[in-house]
Amino acid sequence: MMEARFDFDGVVDRWDSDSVKWAGARQKFGRPVFPMWVADMDFPVAPNILRALEERLAEPVLGYPDHDEIVHEAAADWWRKRYSWTVSTDEIILVQGVVPALNAALRAFSQPDDGIIVMPPIYPPFFAAVTGQGRRLISVPLRKDAGLRYEIDFASLAAQLPQARLLLLCSPHNPVGRVWTPEELQQLVSLCQRHGVRIISDEIHADLSRPDQVHTPMGKLDPRAIVLASASKSFNIAGLGGAVAWLRGDEAKAQFVEELRRSGILGTHTFAKAALRAAWQEGGPWLQALQSYLGDNAQFLESFLQRHLPEIGFRKPDFGYLAWLDLRAWGLSDAEIEARILDAGLGLNWGPSFGEGGSGFVRLNFGTPRKLLADGLDLLRKAAAAQA
Ligand SMILES: Cc1ncc(COP(=O)(O)O)c(C=O)c1O
Repeated sequence: MMEARFDFDGVVDRWDSDSVKWAGARQKFGRPVFPMWVADMDFPVAPNILRALEERLAEPVLGYPDHDEIVHEAAADWWRKRYSWTVSTDEIILVQGVVPALNAALRAFSQPDDGIIVMPPIYPPFFAAVTGQGRRLISVPLRKDAGLRYEIDFASLAAQLPQARLLLLCSPHNPVGRVWTPEELQQLVSLCQRHGVRIISDEIHADLSRPDQVHTPMGKLDPRAIVLASASKSFNIAGLGGAVAWLRGDEAKAQFVEELRRSGILGTHTFAKAALRAAWQEGGPWLQALQSYLGDNAQFLESFLQRHLPEIGFRKPDFGYLAWLDLRAWGLSDAEIEARILDAGLGLNWGPSFGEGGSGFVRLNFGTPRKLLADGLDLLRKAAAAQA
């Protein structure tokens, strides 16, 4: 049994560690609540990554790093094996993070006041990237069915595309838990191509897609797309920084590299590089074990809600460890939901921060040992009981 080699049940006390999720919760929520917010898991890093970091540290000089191509090759191998996506390493650029690269791509491939399509509810930095850089936000909210399965609103998208320069895609989509199907993505690409709109695809959660929900890298379908990816979410190494961008075409690449250089985020740090390489070269077995653990956590969460909080709407996410919970049956305002949950001692991400369609929802992070998940869910139950 592969899983037995890795321990995801052990609880690491992070209260006083250098962690925005735990130590930072006091500041974020104004009190020391139990943190099930920000996309950061509570598991120790994969042993092979730790080893790679230790080996690098054994070399006592820490000057500017080189050899980005080692990471490019590791990424290309990973994508080929995992997604049957074959890319040239020349098409890969090492960057300091997905969000910085998303912002840089916007600057490189659009002008102030250009229309940029975003499909909420969505990871909040997408909005900041658009409005913070003087571009015009075109919101095309996702649609959902009664079972909380979200879909792209293609009719509304078709109406908005003529006004747009870029489309920012979250694939898989945080927070609504969808891995987009190849058919959905192909429809999106066809529509965008018809209107000359370039797609920037944030695929940071891709490697956490469930085995029955196969992720399709946008670069397989659309040669004009820009794909942003990292091992930072799947291997929980976000504190190190580091990501890769994929794009095709010398001119586009030169344009993007120039912008990355201008903003000082081309390339990344020594330890990020060591960790990305180790994750992609040798991290497969750990990731498989993690996914199995997260699958059991999702099952635990679903059973808990069905048994104790059946009024809360929930559809198991297609990937990862972020649950999008529908609390509208509580009949409370967003401020009241927030107050109830905080009063019960729990810190979550509040739905309205994800934009249109977020009201009445919260995002709960279940990437944590089962014991902590159970503790956190008891607090949610306490919050629900308080409203009776
Ligand atoms: C969709 C998405 N993109 C990007 C990020 C963060 O990327 P980075 O830390 O590389 O800037 C997150 C973090 O939660 C995310 O959920």
